[in-house]
Amino acid sequence: MRKQIAAANWKMNLTLQQGEQLLEDIISLPHQLNENQEAVFAVPAPYLMMAQQKLRGKEYLSVAAQNCYSKKSGAYTGEISVDMLSSIGVYYVVLGHSERREYFNESNSFLADKINICLLNNITPIFCCGEPLEIREAGTQNEYVAKQLQESLYHLNADQLLKIVIAYEPIWAIGTGKTASSAQAQEMHAAIRKQLESKYGKETAECISILYGGSVKGSNAAEIFVQPDVDGGLVGGASLVAEEFVAIMNALKK
Ligand code: PGA
Repeated sequence: MRKQIAAANWKMNLTLQQGEQLLEDIISLPHQLNENQEAVFAVPAPYLMMAQQKLRGKEYLSVAAQNCYSKKSGAYTGEISVDMLSSIGVYYVVLGHSERREYFNESNSFLADKINICLLNNITPIFCCGEPLEIREAGTQNEYVAKQLQESLYHLNADQLLKIVIAYEPIWAIGTGKTASSAQAQEMHAAIRKQLESKYGKETAECISILYGGSVKGSNAAEIFVQPDVDGGLVGGASLVAEEFVAIMNALKK
């Protein structure tokens, strides 16, 4: 079975002390992850080392960065390189979140460059895609997401693609309390897998974990995650509350 992942995206929230407390609370609550499951914590950059230390030696719990830059090193004030991440033992990074696309103008081709440098340095990108409301209303979400995949991922070969996690996040469901129904999530995840299949073949497409994101909570996670093409979630708001996030971790498919 594909790896099942509950990814927490703290975004630009919490102080260091609050972040430490949240991780401690999560660690202390009973959770039942197995070797095919993982909880990944995308924390703000200044807290990456703290999170690494807190989660060191904890089975199936990992740390992710929320972003990185496409260049190896140099005069790019304020940016984070993949070497910096590897040097502190961080091997996941969220890329192409809709907030980065919208507020920081990250384009599909810029994201392709970021994907490349991550893969060259053994960092797993959690690549976000998903349509805005007007596209959903026009019924062209499949084409919209297909273009995101095409322009950011399709230059990769199958071996490289296998190192990527995809997160489908319909923008109209992010932070709005409006979740896609489990049927809508399944429909799009199946469509994404079909698109990957047409480019890379069934065997490869079947191995890619596709997470759902957008108002996932403890109370709705199980019905979304049980869908055959949904392999977990990328969680914003509910990842800031220990009990909620642990409930989401425990809702991953076994
Ligand atoms: P949300 O955010 O869970 O608060 O809707 C999800 C995300 O942006 O990754």
